Amino acid sequence: MSRPLQEEKVFKDPVHKYIYVQDQTVWDLINTKEFQRLRRVRQLGTCYLTFHGAEHSRFSHSLGVYEVTRKIISQFERNRYEDWPKEERLLCLCAALLHDVGHGPFSHSIEKAFGNHHEEWSRRIVLGDTEIHRVLRRVSPSFPQQVADVIAKTYHREIVVSMVSSQMDADRMDYLLRDAYFTGVNYGTFDLERILRVLRPYKGHIVVKESGMHAVEDYLMSRYQMYWQIYFHPVTRSAEVILHKIVQRAKQLFEEGFSFRFWLPPLTNLFLRKLTLRDHYLLDESLMQTVFMQWACEDDPILADLCTRFLQRKLFKYVTLERVDVRQLDRLRGFMQERGIDPAYYLEIDFPSDLSYDVYRPGEQDEKLPILILDDKDTLTEISRKSEIVRSISGIHMGKYHLYYPAELLERHRAELDAELRAWLDEE
Ligand code: NI
Repeated sequence: MSRPLQEEKVFKDPVHKYIYVQDQTVWDLINTKEFQRLRRVRQLGTCYLTFHGAEHSRFSHSLGVYEVTRKIISQFERNRYEDWPKEERLLCLCAALLHDVGHGPFSHSIEKAFGNHHEEWSRRIVLGDTEIHRVLRRVSPSFPQQVADVIAKTYHREIVVSMVSSQMDADRMDYLLRDAYFTGVNYGTFDLERILRVLRPYKGHIVVKESGMHAVEDYLMSRYQMYWQIYFHPVTRSAEVILHKIVQRAKQLFEEGFSFRFWLPPLTNLFLRKLTLRDHYLLDESLMQTVFMQWACEDDPILADLCTRFLQRKLFKYVTLERVDVRQLDRLRGFMQERGIDPAYYLEIDFPSDLSYDVYRPGEQDEKLPILILDDKDTLTEISRKSEIVRSISGIHMGKYHLYYPAELLERHRAELDAELRAWLDEE
């Protein structure tokens, strides 16, 4: 059973001003150790190396998604919409709060190296032997499973799923505003209050009243801008490349039986791909930063160099290419190898497919529920059929390639590069 808190709790928040907690279950979830761990995982991974303000945590984002969801539901309740299934309130709030609970440190690079997905971890945390699981079970024995189903988008009621994952869900609305605020850019801002007012439940969907279409266009425009200016930023991407190479090198050394001077217990299971819930709890960005600090002094020169680069922000340079010339790439690899620079760790090419949404926002490549506009004749139309602005920014792909390499290594050998390779690397 869920019961209201005797006294409403309030968090001060820079994006929503205040976050209101009214349910005992929500309050108890926030106070679990697994949720508190999100304070030690940054929302935007390596983005702080490009935008120094981007230090905000997944904890603040998760509270924000909860608050947007709470506001949507409270608007539905105030308007007494009959299409809103009132009994789903607590489920929506808990799923919103917990949707990112499985995120590990620097999610994107580390997930990629070890093939563990944060969605799967969210599920394990909700269903496994955890404090979160025990809080959810107090609502009802089947409640943890329901929360897991909403997070996995398999819950039988679309309206509940769409609150947390659709083209215009509480998750996106919070992260766009929050990431814009903390990076200090203006692109991500849109009128959240206005959007919340024009949403309504309708025949099992959450739809937008036609009068709100321009507010939604504004939201989609800001999303488009944020992807280009923040999430796809090539410098952030360069830091991701280095992180990925650190993990790749450490994994290689681990498999070769290299004796690391510094090691922490959760790393063993991470490298063996046998992470337990306890390891996952211990693996946060503080742990990884400590590991990188120590590995900067390891005997392996590649690992030490990559860690130093990451900590001191000596990132790889990049060149933007219209297309990838495989022959030139092979020649560059050979050139580096001859000079003792291992291209496996010092050269990376980013293909446009790698630059799709899931690079920075795992999961978003999935088909998400469309935005539906409801007109006064009770007809539902998908927004891009009504809005030229939405049509013009739909289906965007990155058209260019980025080639990453350590500038000083090539500068040192610049004179030895032939004209062809030099011209290629100078191409802008
Ligand atoms: Ni999220």
